Amino acid sequence: MKHITKVYGSLYANNDIPLTLNKGEILAVVGENGAGKSTLMKILYGLEQPTSGEIYLNGEKQNFRSPHDAIAKKIGMVQQHFMLLEPCTVAENIVYGKEPKKGLFFDREGAVKIVEELCEKYGLHIDPRLKVGDCPVGLQQRVEILKVLYQDADIIIFDEPSAVLTPQEVTELLATMRKLATMGKSIIIITHKLHEVMAVADRVMVMRLGKFIQEMPITETNIEEMSFLMVGRHVVERHVDPQPTGERVLDVKDLVLAGSDAKNILDHFNMHVDAGEIVGIAGVSGNGQSELIQCLTGLLPPTSGQILLQGKDVAGHSVGEIREAGCACIPEDRYLWGCAKEATLTETAIMAHQHKPELSKNGLLNSKGAKVFTQRLLDNYDVRNSGQSQKAGELSGGNIQKLIVAREMEQKSPLLIAAEPTRGVDIGAIEFIHGKLLEKRAEGDAVLLISSELTEIMSLSDRIYVIYEGQAAGEFRKEDATEEDLGILMMGGKLV
Ligand SMILES: Nc1ncnc2c1ncn2[C@@H]1O[C@H](COP(=O)(O)OP(=O)(O)OP(=O)(O)O)[C@@H](O)[C@H]1O
Ligand SMILES: [Mg+2]
Repeated sequence: MKHITKVYGSLYANNDIPLTLNKGEILAVVGENGAGKSTLMKILYGLEQPTSGEIYLNGEKQNFRSPHDAIAKKIGMVQQHFMLLEPCTVAENIVYGKEPKKGLFFDREGAVKIVEELCEKYGLHIDPRLKVGDCPVGLQQRVEILKVLYQDADIIIFDEPSAVLTPQEVTELLATMRKLATMGKSIIIITHKLHEVMAVADRVMVMRLGKFIQEMPITETNIEEMSFLMVGRHVVERHVDPQPTGERVLDVKDLVLAGSDAKNILDHFNMHVDAGEIVGIAGVSGNGQSELIQCLTGLLPPTSGQILLQGKDVAGHSVGEIREAGCACIPEDRYLWGCAKEATLTETAIMAHQHKPELSKNGLLNSKGAKVFTQRLLDNYDVRNSGQSQKAGELSGGNIQKLIVAREMEQKSPLLIAAEPTRGVDIGAIEFIHGKLLEKRAEGDAVLLISSELTEIMSLSDRIYVIYEGQAAGEFRKEDATEEDLGILMMGGKLV
């Protein structure tokens, strides 16, 4: 790719970017939120057209008007938000768009056979007859990869593929990428996790504010240098001092959420969070964390048990009532629960703040107040945007996350539930968000942190619970928790 420039309004999302990719190579593209990584990949995949610049494949100039054109030239992209048909089977999803036919009709058995052969060839195993909606995220991603391989891609783009995976799934994914590269595929991976870059990439390219900064072989760099080039300063994790705790803010007693079979999703779960404390919940995703958050925030009524918020039982109450009672929430899936993609930044920022005096006048929205309020959040949280009327869905992934964090922090509620608060944000912003969570703790509020990043849990939490199959499998004080013990309990083992 030569001199790629992409302008949105007055914003240079990409500014004169060069990118080269060799056969059988894994190239990592890193950079801050909003640096322009996804934009560059969308251009390569034909989803966006560059304002100027050229793309050459094997020396031949290309003109991609749509992904259809790019796919025809053997470029594939594994989307971060999977584009799969959940009610259909694995095989149907993989062949969709290029289905085997028996006469005039779809050849179902033929599709299964094709997928079995594909799995064999690439050593990626999955049952072709499974329904995609029943597969865990890691397997759904494998379906996306197989789909790209079925389309016979030579270049495969992964945009933040590990953000939604468990640690075990990440290890498998990285191994898969290495294997594909050995087989001659060329791979581009975008990730904020620099240890993944070190583990899998041959070469790394750093971007900042739409510009190309530097590229180097992985053997000639390290995490510190990459993070310095990304954010233009050194990033340090802070040390957290213990502090005394106050009243009980959240007390979850014997919480049960029945599942569709005999097994409970939440199985007599007990835990509490006190004022001035960050409590972490560690666990392999799929052990009831999502449902716990949904019960606590009013999205799901629990089957039995109590959720005492400042002494008042809010189990089964509505989302609005629970917010009123003093609970804000940074949801785990920013697009599903955190915002509406079509809403403007102003609308996104004021959601659940709209009744505040500075934002409403005689029951009507005070639009001037809303603008001031929104600008404060955008500025304080360094949300890179092109104006308040921009749509939430147009912000880069990390920037929409920062806006949601800002909005929920601004609730100044006694309890904040922070679910995967730093998913998809760059290392500079992680440091910033961690600082904000610690400020909230210092102000004497309670924070419940649910994260699949064990390092995040361990560095911020005063106390840690491990959740396994819907039960609290263990409770640790920060100073007693080791990664090893947490890991054993997370996998369903017992400590001796
Ligand atoms: N459709 C669009 N309209 C307007 N601006 C856009 C659009 N798409 C992207 N942008 C802007 O372009 C810039 C680069 O966005 P991009 O998604 O490429 O960043 P990124 O490097 O992938 O960031 P992240 O790590 O947060 O995913 C951002 O400031 C974003 O707001
Ligand atoms: Mg992106």
